[in-house]
Amino acid sequence: MGERLKGKVAIVTGAGSILAGMGNGKATAIVFAREGATVMAVDYNLEAAEETRRLIEQEGGDCITFKVDVSKTSDCRSMVETCVEKFGRVDILHNNVGMGGYGGAVETAEEIWDKTMAVNLKSMFLTCKYALPYMEKQGSGSITNISSLNSIRCQPAPAIAYAVSKAGVIALTREVAIQYAPRGIRANAILPGYMKTPMVEFYNKEAYGDGDAELMWRRRDAMCPTGKQGEPWDVAYAALFLNSDEAKYITGTTLIVDGGVTNTTKQW
Ligand SMILES: NC(=O)c1ccc[n+]([C@@H]2O[C@H](COP(=O)([O-])OP(=O)(O)OC[C@H]3O[C@@H](n4cnc5c(N)ncnc54)[C@H](O)[C@@H]3O)[C@@H](O)[C@H]2O)c1
Repeated sequence: MGERLKGKVAIVTGAGSILAGMGNGKATAIVFAREGATVMAVDYNLEAAEETRRLIEQEGGDCITFKVDVSKTSDCRSMVETCVEKFGRVDILHNNVGMGGYGGAVETAEEIWDKTMAVNLKSMFLTCKYALPYMEKQGSGSITNISSLNSIRCQPAPAIAYAVSKAGVIALTREVAIQYAPRGIRANAILPGYMKTPMVEFYNKEAYGDGDAELMWRRRDAMCPTGKQGEPWDVAYAALFLNSDEAKYITGTTLIVDGGVTNTTKQW
């Protein structure tokens, strides 16, 4: 066990995984616990969060689970209140929940646009809204919001709702960071590139692999300068750094975790 987050209480949203395997939120919850944080593993799929808790406890870490739909106001409020009731504080808020989906302006149904904004963007506004007053009372806190490379760069397949929601995450992060910098609270965004996670298999198989997951993985590898997609652990370690005291002078920034994809025009 490390000590980079020793004594800290961390909320991780989307700490389960949409299918079997390791997602970004799950890996982050595990890494936080390995570094001494007490983790509140939040997911609307409680079974998925329980699996994360089992993995953390097997390694001797501390974790509780909580069922939350982060697109709902009352759920976000009770998530933060429960964390503070149980542990007396909230040091880290890691907003990982996101949903995918493809299509341009014409192909995207209005309901999908609204849902994507609620799940990917409004959720982070809500969790910040309820966590910030407690962090302010503590005089400290760190927030990491998961955006995406798609917020600054088009992907081969159009994803207008996803890209716009993730661009909003960057602006939201910046607003929080600057307003709360004098109060000891930091906020940063992480922009993952092509990471090999269950969510990708769930949402991207059609757009990138003509329905074939293996073809999709090969194509995604081919778009990466390293020849390989990233792993959820790569996102987790970025989050660990940003939420540790080592990053105490870093706020309002975006950390790209993409193996160099941003700097290339490589296609499959
Ligand atoms: N995997 C990639 O290549 C990639 C790239 C860029 C950004 N991201 C972002 O990383 C984040 C996590 O992605 P992942 O691939 O690890 O996903 P994942 O499916 O492995 O995990 C997401 C978890 O969030 C939960 N969840 C979904 N909607 C929820 C809601 N409304 N309330 C509570 N829980 C909910 C799911 O049940 C699931 O357990 C997302 O924000 C995604 O947009 C991923």
